[in-house]
Amino acid sequence: MKILITGGAGFVGSHLADKLHAEGHEIVVIDNLSTGRYANIAHLEGKERFRLIIDTVLNERLMEELIREADRVFHMASAVGVKLIMERPVYTIENIFKGTDIVLSFCSRYRKRVLIPSTSEVYGKGTAVPFREDDDILKGSTSKHRWAYACAKELDEFLALAHWKESRLPVVVVRLFNTVGPRQTGQYGMVVPRFVKAALRNEPLYVYGDGLQSRCFAHVADVVEALPKLLETPACFGQVINIGNDREITIKELAEKVIQLTGSKSEIRYVDYKDVYGDGFEDMRRRVPCLEKAKKLIGYNPTRTLEDIINDVVREFRREMMKSEGASA
Ligand SMILES: NC(=O)c1ccc[n+]([C@@H]2O[C@H](COP(=O)([O-])OP(=O)(O)OC[C@H]3O[C@@H](n4cnc5c(N)ncnc54)[C@H](O)[C@@H]3O)[C@@H](O)[C@H]2O)c1
Repeated sequence: MKILITGGAGFVGSHLADKLHAEGHEIVVIDNLSTGRYANIAHLEGKERFRLIIDTVLNERLMEELIREADRVFHMASAVGVKLIMERPVYTIENIFKGTDIVLSFCSRYRKRVLIPSTSEVYGKGTAVPFREDDDILKGSTSKHRWAYACAKELDEFLALAHWKESRLPVVVVRLFNTVGPRQTGQYGMVVPRFVKAALRNEPLYVYGDGLQSRCFAHVADVVEALPKLLETPACFGQVINIGNDREITIKELAEKVIQLTGSKSEIRYVDYKDVYGDGFEDMRRRVPCLEKAKKLIGYNPTRTLEDIINDVVREFRREMMKSEGASA
């Protein structure tokens, strides 16, 4: 099949490109390299059945052509990361919503199966444990920019479901919970790569807030195994489905685990959210996915542990550190 992956030079998109290319599919990646990196897909360039286009999904003429020629579309392009959202709210809202609108319109016109990733952020301030796909949703005020990301993604969901309702567009909405693994950068505020990098340098690990907020981390390899299955399962069309891992850990415990697994001499320091993100930031205490729906629909059962994730990220950073030490020697 010919598969279009928008944002395919990003973290999740590049792992998806690797997997689908290895299965023999023809892969077309469009990415503007805003948060993605050429290095993530450099190993695929020059191979048969792979094409990289550096451009934006907001280029409508190009997107029409790419979608018309594709058999499947994975729309992984998005403004991503809490730090980016706090710093560039206009870009975030426009990039997310306009991009998804363009992708859905052409997928609808040419009747293409499309996967739209959403996020656990849409559960907002909800306190249910675990979060179920049909839970009510409570967000903070619009003066708190943090919620702009969640609301833009929520609007993506509404639009996708509207296309399903009005014209039976074969669309699947996936709410990804924290997904982690090699190639994710700490640059945009992602906690695991940020901690690992600091630990390997024996620098302090900065925990925001009291560190008792918890998260569940899924290995990217588990996630990219699930995404194509969802798109190949017609029972998933018109559905919103949680994907992640339901093992919960506090950020303080995560910092301790990273220090232990790296054998680091780092200490843990606590900083106020306000000092990191400025005013207008609110966080959620817990975010645990209910995975029953994914299990029922595609037999989803993530097998990689948090230790696997940390060890894989450590291995990648050590390799990169050795490379840059070798280059500067
Ligand atoms: N990683 C996670 O934990 C997580 C959690 C929830 C949701 N998601 C969602 O999964 C998807 C992929 O996220 P990721 O973690 O791989 O992030 P990422 O930043 O690594 O990937 C996004 C990619 O999209 C590209 N991009 C952004 N705007 C673009 C545009 N206008 N045109 C073309 N390319 C553009 C970026 O350069 C990047 O390569 C996103 O929709 C994100 O919201 C990820």
